[in-house]
Amino acid sequence: MELMEVLNNRRAVRDFNDTPIERATIEKLIQSAILAPSAMNLQPWAFAVRLGREEIDRLGERVKDHLLKNFPQAGPEASLRKMVEDPNYVLFHHAPALVLVVAKSADSQAREDCCLAAQNLMLAARDEGIGTCWIGLSRPWLNLAATKKEFGIPPEYEFVAPIILGYPKSWPKTHGRNAAEIFWAK
Ligand SMILES: Cc1cc2nc3c(=O)[nH]c(=O)nc-3n(C[C@H](O)[C@H](O)[C@H](O)COP(=O)(O)O)c2cc1C
Repeated sequence: MELMEVLNNRRAVRDFNDTPIERATIEKLIQSAILAPSAMNLQPWAFAVRLGREEIDRLGERVKDHLLKNFPQAGPEASLRKMVEDPNYVLFHHAPALVLVVAKSADSQAREDCCLAAQNLMLAARDEGIGTCWIGLSRPWLNLAATKKEFGIPPEYEFVAPIILGYPKSWPKTHGRNAAEIFWAK
């Protein structure tokens, strides 16, 4: 695909068919991710990968448990709570693959660098016909000390971008975009 075609056609995908994602495909996408720019070229990223719908579903259930124990009952997060409370709400959308982009330090601009790597990964995936969705709701659970330990992630590392991947049943329609607010010099 041409770059503009990829940009125009990437969508958050939450409905996947049964085709698994191969390890080699994930490795190829990570090679695209690490082409991203980074502050002072520190390349402060690492990646954790989980493959297999059942395992990822189980992780999603644990994220939901954590969120429901910690979400406030009122305030702006109350509507999110309602969504997550629904027993039919599947946090990782039954995806067959999960790539977690991890910042290796809180120094410099490691989080920003990881977001750029994540965007590269999502665009490269689109080019391969693979759908992705960033699952921000999983971050609080991922960044618990116990979860980092379970994933073999050093305590000073931080999960930044949890990206699910899979072959879409179909590509969702675009939500469109609001007009950009631009401040030109007067
Ligand atoms: C930082 C971030 C966090 C997100 N968190 C979630 C999430 O927890 N669950 C989910 O289903 N989608 C999540 N999304 C996907 C957005 O809802 C989606 O990108 C947005 O609606 C725009 O749609 P598009 O990606 O198809 O253009 C997240 C996206 C971003 C960038």
